[in-house]
Order: sequence, then structure tokens, then C-alpha cells
Amino acid sequence: MSNAAVTSGPFDSIKRIEDEFQVATYKKMPFSVERGQGCWVWTSNGEKYLDLYGGHAVCATGHSHPHVVKAIKAQADRVLFYSNLVYSDIRGRAAEKLVSAAPEPLTKAFFCNSGTEANENAMRMARMATGRHKIVSFSGGFHGRTADSISATFLGKYRKIGEPNVPHHVEAEFGSVESIREVIDQETAGVIIEPIQSMAGVKEAPPEFFTELRARCDEVGAALIFDEVQTGIGRTGAWFFAGSEPTAGVVPNIVTLAKALGSGVPVGACLVDDKVSSAIKENDLGTTFGGGMIAMAAVLATLEAIENDKMIENARAVETHLRSELSDVSTVKGILGKGCLLGIEFETTASEVFSGLLERKVIAGTSSDPKVLRLLPPLCVSKEELNLLVEALKG
Ligand SMILES: Cc1ncc(COP(=O)(O)O)c(C=O)c1O
Repeated sequence: MSNAAVTSGPFDSIKRIEDEFQVATYKKMPFSVERGQGCWVWTSNGEKYLDLYGGHAVCATGHSHPHVVKAIKAQADRVLFYSNLVYSDIRGRAAEKLVSAAPEPLTKAFFCNSGTEANENAMRMARMATGRHKIVSFSGGFHGRTADSISATFLGKYRKIGEPNVPHHVEAEFGSVESIREVIDQETAGVIIEPIQSMAGVKEAPPEFFTELRARCDEVGAALIFDEVQTGIGRTGAWFFAGSEPTAGVVPNIVTLAKALGSGVPVGACLVDDKVSSAIKENDLGTTFGGGMIAMAAVLATLEAIENDKMIENARAVETHLRSELSDVSTVKGILGKGCLLGIEFETTASEVFSGLLERKVIAGTSSDPKVLRLLPPLCVSKEELNLLVEALKG
């Protein structure tokens, strides 16, 4: 279909209806997505965009990966849903596969429906396991928009949006060993950290910081929580950021997941060690939809697709390729992050670069740092596709 044939007509009417019947809380790009495949989406106007934002860090397996789509369809034909009041083969298989990919000593999963909910449950488990209330989190981290998660979010305006905040949340400085020694104490139930701070502008801490963080939590008996809603499920070039090289092998007591976990079907999870899981009794946690069969089929197929298509290896190759190809682009000041969670730092404002890329039909993301453009592409993105970005940035 040529672009000229279907001008702005269909999009205008789609936009008009959404704007009329939805609360105006989202800043949207000026098109409607009709179809997706791999790293590409097609709009109602017949245009094609390269999606280096991965449907908001969700579509790690690419848009509508055939293995995932097939698994969801097959499960829908069997049974759409039953809650945790019954056993389910697909739930057991998804949990087993997820726990098997996790670093020791994480041994059990609790399923929920989103990132913020995973973090709420993680903080609750930390309180239950320690009998304490205080939660420490870091300047620049983002943990979600429900009450406890937004109270742990010391980033820009977010915490204020969540007022009145949940009490007993205290801020520490990301990357500062002095700060963690000062703030994490015998009253601390849990410490939650976004190990690469994506929304803050892809900010990283050195491996020694994670070693000190683990040691301090052990010293005072606090549970350490990694919010891997963005870093998890292969994005940084390992199944989990926990236990990987950039953390010097540090594994927390709880890892939280969402976004990529279901390739687009809403699902969240907490992975916990025995110390935490043994503190949880019947009915301490729960959610109607968590562990539903469609979500579990999506989780299992997502993990299989990542494994079968060697996407974790590809995520590492993406970083190497972009670091090399962008090294001589004059406007690029630096590359931040790991694997397929990358920040490109510019001399000028990233929002201008974002708009320029959008005009050239490339979707990227901005961040809270005005100079950092974020890339969160599907883990299957190819060098040829990345080169379209490189050419656009050079041009
Ligand atoms: C690191 C991190 N944690 C938590 C969340 C919240 O996840 P959700 O929007 O699924 O509630 C997000 C969402 O962007 C996130 O990036």
C-alpha cells in the first residue's frame, strides 16, 4: 500500500476516538500501530517504523514472535484462565523454566501482573521476612506508580504524584558506598535498587558498589531486592543482571520482573531465595490474575524463544556493534548501559534527536536526563537494522 493512497484519514479518526474516550495522561507518538513483526511496526497509514524502543521495553522477543503467538493461541483453545485455587501444568512449567534461568540461590517464583505490583510484593516480603518496616531505595531509581513503589521512587516528580507517600521509605545515593553505610541499618527491612537506572538516563554503578551493598544488607539482616523490570530476561546480555559480571556476581534475595517477561501479555514476577520464601505463609500474598494460564503460556514461550534464537548472545553483540559504529559520530558524547538497554549521550538535547529519528521512521526513547536518548530494542535486532539508526545519526 503506498503512503499517498491512504493519507491521514484513518489515523485522524483513530486519534479522535482515543482522545475523546481516554484520560489524557499519555504523550503519544503521532501514529497508530496496526501490525508488528520482529523489530518493525506498521501504522494505519501504511507506514513502517523501525522500533528501537521495543514497545516500551516489552517486546524483547520482537513484535508477535511466532513461537509466542502460537503458544498463546494454543493455550487459549485449552483454557483462558483459572486462578491459583487450582493447579496448572503450564504454570508449573513456566515457573520451573524461569527459576532454572535464575542465579542461585533464587529458587521460587511468585507471579503477579505488572512491574509495580512485583515491587509492592517484594517490599512486603522483605518486611515479612524481617519483621521490620524501613525500605531503602536510591536517588534516580524508578519502581512504579502504586503506593509503595512510587514511595520508593526518588526520581523527579514521581514521588510527589504518589502523595501521601507510604511511611518508612528512605533515600540513599545511587553508587555511593558512604551513603549505603549511613542509611542501611538494623531497622531496614529491605533495600530496593534498579541496578541500571533506565529512566534516569541509563545510569550505572560500579561492581564494587554491588559487593558493598550485598555486604551491608547481610551485616544488618536486610533483604536486598533488584528491580529487574527492565534489566531482566536477557536484556543486558545475561538472563538476569543479578549474578552477572557488572554486579561482581552479586545475587539479591529477591528479583522483580515484568515488561519483557510475557512478550506483551501483562505479567510480573518475584523470584525469591529460601530465606524469603520460608517467611511467607498461606494467604500472605495473592492476586486473582497472577499465574493465569495465558500469561504463563506467554512466559514459557518467551523464555524458549529467547533461548532458541540465541537472543542473549545477540544482545551482547548489539552493544559491541553500536559502541563501535557510533564511536566516530561527532554529536555522540558517549554510550551508556549494557546489551539492549543503552543510552546514547549527546552534546545537544536528546528530544531533538528523538524527533529527527521519528521523522526518519525510527522509534527510540528519551529519559529524565535531557541529553540521553534510550534504546530498548527487541533482543533480536540485527546489525543491518541497527545500521539504519547509525546512518540516521550520521546524516
Ligand atoms: C525499573 C522499573 N520498575 C518498575 C516499573 C513499573 O512497571 P509497570 O509499569 O509494569 O507497573 C517500570 C516501568 O517502567 C520500570 O522501568
